[in-house]
Amino acid sequence: MKKTIVITGGAGFIGSHVVRRFVNKYPEYHIINLDALTYAGNLENLRDIEGAENYEFLKADITNIADVEALFKSRNIHSVIHLAAESHVDRSISNPIDFVMTNVVGTVVLMNAYKAYGDTQNGRFYHVSTDEVYGTLGDEGKFTETTPYSPNSPYSASKASSDHFVRAYHETFKLPVVISNCSNNYGSHQFPEKLIPLMIHNIKNEKALPVYGKGENIRDWLWVEDHASAIDAVFHQGRNGETYNIGGNNEWKNIDLVHKLCEIMDSKLGKAAGESAKLITYVTDRAGHDFRYAIDASKIEAELGWKPSVNFAEGFEKTIDWYLSNDEWLSNVTSGNYQSYYENLYSKR
Ligand code: NAD
Ligand code: DAU
Repeated sequence: MKKTIVITGGAGFIGSHVVRRFVNKYPEYHIINLDALTYAGNLENLRDIEGAENYEFLKADITNIADVEALFKSRNIHSVIHLAAESHVDRSISNPIDFVMTNVVGTVVLMNAYKAYGDTQNGRFYHVSTDEVYGTLGDEGKFTETTPYSPNSPYSASKASSDHFVRAYHETFKLPVVISNCSNNYGSHQFPEKLIPLMIHNIKNEKALPVYGKGENIRDWLWVEDHASAIDAVFHQGRNGETYNIGGNNEWKNIDLVHKLCEIMDSKLGKAAGESAKLITYVTDRAGHDFRYAIDASKIEAELGWKPSVNFAEGFEKTIDWYLSNDEWLSNVTSGNYQSYYENLYSKR
């Protein structure tokens, strides 16, 4: 009998990499991808595995108690890997309530259903979270699992809140849970509202490259496949009630990253050196913009033997190549609503 695992948010960026990994690597699991297909969810991300015998897609909203309960009542759900979320900081500034609904309420709805009907004796509820719950760093130091929570954006406040609910369900109801907090991911299939695919898209279309503030903020970038392998390790070997930080040990100042991208794109697009960098435009900073994120991943490395598999130069080039050779994917996701989103956020900066 296969173990049935619900992966939420499997049509999104990271979720699609996790679903693909689990479907291909674990034929002994039956994977249900539960996703509401918001603007960020795209079944095109999973075309290659949609016919797999151990895979099933269910369109459902995690805030819909009746739909979520119906699933957990009717199927013997071994475990949940929960990635569904509103994930973009800028959208959380213009519309915080969606983040409370999906990230906080949705997480509690899922845990209630798993607690009532799931296989809590043998399985677990895994909450995939972010390093942004820790707030911001100065020039020195890194986030560890004991860094106090200090979220600064509505997005990170909603993720911090859901982390607290997950921990509280472990303490109060003995729900078997595990949490991981990861740094910025990059890779294929990322919606072009996020820095790297947005800049690639704009360079291709010779549009301005909007760098927030002075471009001095720092992020710790991890290849999405390495996040998926960390999720695999935490899901299978992590200890219940524990948190694991995941990061790439790969800090970049935004402006340096954008310059690197311009340099590679110039060469790939056959442009003169320095051509794409002329598009860089400094725009009004993001409100409450966290200065620096950096992860100390020594716990997951020592306890679970995880480490990133690719260096940044290799992962970054693979990523750029993917966007350049998937023009149709990029055009599809940037048509329609994306245009008005972009106009609203960037035209007045
Ligand atoms: P994403 O925005 O690309 O995808 C989110 C997915 O969730 C989409 O498929 C969307 O349709 C689905 N979804 C949204 N609301 C839903 C709802 N109410 N019901 C059901 N499905 C819903 O996000 P991502 O970047 O892939 O992030 C996935 C998870 O990983 C999130 O929980 C995020 O907080 C976390 N995370 C992301 C990063 C990163 O760099 N992107 C880093 C660390 C942690
Ligand atoms: O750290 C993990 C988090 O990383 C995840 O939890 C979030 O879901 C994910 O969106 C990401 O958050 P960031 O806000 O760091 O990512 P974003 O790609 O939006 O921005 C990266 C940096 O680039 C940040 O300092 C803001 C800056 N930026 C972003 C955009 C979209 C710009 O300068 N210009 C832009 O147009």
